Amino acid sequence: MKKTFVVTGGNSGLGCQCAKNIAMESADNHVVIASRNMERSERAAANIAGETGNPHIYAMPLDLASQASVRDFAETFASRDLPPLYGLVCNAISGSGPSKPEYTEDGFEMTFATGHLGHFLLANLLLKNMQGGGRIVFVSSDQHDPPRMIATISYTDALDIARSRCNKHAVRYSLTKLCNLYCAYEMAERAVNNISVNAFNPGFMADTGLGGGAKSVGEKIIKRLAPLLARLMGKYSTAQISGKLLAEMMTGPRYEGVTGKYFDRGREARSSELSYSKANAVNLWERSMELTKNAHGPQKE
Ligand SMILES: NC(=O)c1ccc[n+]([C@@H]2O[C@H](COP(=O)([O-])OP(=O)(O)OC[C@H]3O[C@@H](n4cnc5c(N)ncnc54)[C@H](OP(=O)(O)O)[C@@H]3O)[C@@H](O)[C@H]2O)c1
Repeated sequence: MKKTFVVTGGNSGLGCQCAKNIAMESADNHVVIASRNMERSERAAANIAGETGNPHIYAMPLDLASQASVRDFAETFASRDLPPLYGLVCNAISGSGPSKPEYTEDGFEMTFATGHLGHFLLANLLLKNMQGGGRIVFVSSDQHDPPRMIATISYTDALDIARSRCNKHAVRYSLTKLCNLYCAYEMAERAVNNISVNAFNPGFMADTGLGGGAKSVGEKIIKRLAPLLARLMGKYSTAQISGKLLAEMMTGPRYEGVTGKYFDRGREARSSELSYSKANAVNLWERSMELTKNAHGPQKE
């Protein structure tokens, strides 16, 4: 059966490997690469089509930092003559570089706005197009529960995260990755039509833009040591390995009907105690509805 999959951030790193593996699985799988840089996305689509022999790979512009862009993407997607939407991989994130927070045109902190809020809006808008039994995966991270030497986080209210003035990128990133889990768990409960929603941890991948980028000398030293530490702690991976495991969550029969779970590189795992706070998940959901002026979304009675 012909199906469409959307992968945000599908033009590089984990997302690109995921898109390639979905494409490779069947020529009936149509894959939309949704990122900002269209030149890179078109190149990635052509490479994937060439490598897999699957011609149904498309690039479509999406900037998760702009709610207008997310809405444009959803409209364009609905107008395209594609097979029914079956899978959505919420993978992209930006705002990973500077220690000083940056803000989107909508006025929200960049890491949270792209990693969570944009995906929240996108998923809710695309749900209308999604076929029964479809699958959504939110890419989270080990860093949703950071070691103390990296960051200490607490969740108060999503509004505090959206308007954060915190100067530590590690804190903003960890809170966003925690929000990916709240969002996945809450959406899994609210989703109708047998749509499953899960979260994924790819482990530490030194070979992606996120894992590989380092600017200051200190950052470069940490980035050099990080793969070694990740290996010692059993957290090491590559985009190739984790991309394949992420694609399997979209297409593999073993994930059929599985929902509301967290998978660490293919193995079901428990996320942090904080990530199971129902009150925080509901707070994030309700605030996200307000912040995206989103009247749609899956609404179970
Ligand atoms: N790397 C790691 O070690 C690691 C560990 C744990 C979790 N993760 C998670 O894995 C996911 C993928 O990370 P990665 O390491 O593969 O990063 P990456 O190589 O930097 O890729 C990021 C992708 O996101 C896209 N993107 C960035 N900002 C965007 C925006 N505003 N709107 C739409 N697309 C945007 C980029 O394309 P454009 O620039 O063209 O938009 C790119 O395709 C992230 O959720 C990250 O938190 C990574």
